[in-house]
Parts: sequence; C-alpha cells; structure tokens
Amino acid sequence: MVKLQTAFLLLVLTVLELSAQGSDTTFGIFRQKEYYFSNSFKLNWFKAVEYCRARGMFLLSVRNPEEREAIIEYLEGTGYLKTHKTLHAWISANDLGEEGEFHWASTGERMSYLNWSETEPNDFKIDECTREDCAILEYWSEGGANYNYTFNDRSCMREFLFFCETLPA
Ligand SMILES: *[C@@H]1O[C@H](CO)[C@@H](O)[C@H](O)[C@H]1NC(C)=O
Ligand SMILES: *[C@@H]1O[C@H](CO)[C@@H](O)[C@H](O)[C@H]1NC(C)=O
Repeated sequence: MVKLQTAFLLLVLTVLELSAQGSDTTFGIFRQKEYYFSNSFKLNWFKAVEYCRARGMFLLSVRNPEEREAIIEYLEGTGYLKTHKTLHAWISANDLGEEGEFHWASTGERMSYLNWSETEPNDFKIDECTREDCAILEYWSEGGANYNYTFNDRSCMREFLFFCETLPA
C-alpha cells in the first residue's frame, strides 16, 4: 500500500512537473475520479484507448447525468473553453462490435444513458469501408441545447482530443 501510494505520489509529481514545463496535458482529480484531458494532443480512438490504459486509466465513460456534469465541471476547471468555442473529444462509447449497439469500452456496459446530438448517431458513410463507430463528446458555445456536451459518432480513425478517467475498483 505504501509502495502504491509512493508510486501514485511520484506519478502526480511527474505530472505536476510536466505541466510546470509547459506540457500541453492536463491532469486533475475531481469527485473521487481522476481525469486526464489531452488538451491539444489528438489521437485516433484506438490510440486514445491505449494512451489511457498505459496510464492505468480508461477512455471516458459518461453513463448518467452525474457523470456528464462531472466531466463538464472538470473541463471548465481546465480553462480550455476560455480559449476554444468548441470541444470534440473521444469517449469510450462505440458500436464496433455490432452496428447500432453502442457499448462503453471502459466498462463493457451497454450504453443506456443516451445524450446524442440531434440526428446522431448517424453512422455516416465516409467511404466504401469506413463508417462512424466511435463516439465523441461535443460542445459548441453557439449550439444551444444541441452540441451541449452531447454525443456524436465519428470515424474511429479520425484524430481528436480525448479524456481518460479512473474507474473505482
Ligand atoms: C442531455 O442531458 C442533459 C442533462 O441531463 C439534458 O438537459 C439534455 O436535454 C440532454 N440532451 C439530449 C440531446 O438528450
Ligand atoms: C447545457 O448543459 C449545461 C450543463 O448540464 C446546462 O447547465 C445548460 O443549461 C445547458 N444549456 C442549454 C442551452 O441547454
């Protein structure tokens, strides 16, 4: 336990050091969950999954209104929206396993809290072999109730910012 705490402290210190060096990453603890926001660093969905797992975290799940409020509050704390009018960030929802059946990759749960942007998910056809099977959380300051931290399916190979989170054991 002591070792684990030491390792965690080191991790926190390392992250603090990184941010002190002007790194473009943001790391924070909020309501017992730890979050990571890639801030200006974009990856495709698969690489975002790996990036989070490599840090002992998971790509974000937003399974109920409380988890939606928590990530909004966390994001506001990062100051990101002071300099950006929009947010497009990967979350772990996807229907890669079966078309139209969205699940959270982080927990394996079927998506039951549905907060899609209007007319989404539309599985938009990008080309003969690419459609939209991975979800982002999206926000647009002029979007009103739509694009208000709602979900949208996108091509998994596109590069977006992303959120990682810890999940309680
Ligand atoms: C998303 O969730 C919020 C808060 O629960 C709700 O006010 C809003 O109507 C929902 N939006 C959609 C598009 O379902
Ligand atoms: C967008 O969501 C936030 C957080 O749930 C809520 O406070 C706000 O009223 C919503 N805005 C609109 C225009 O629906």
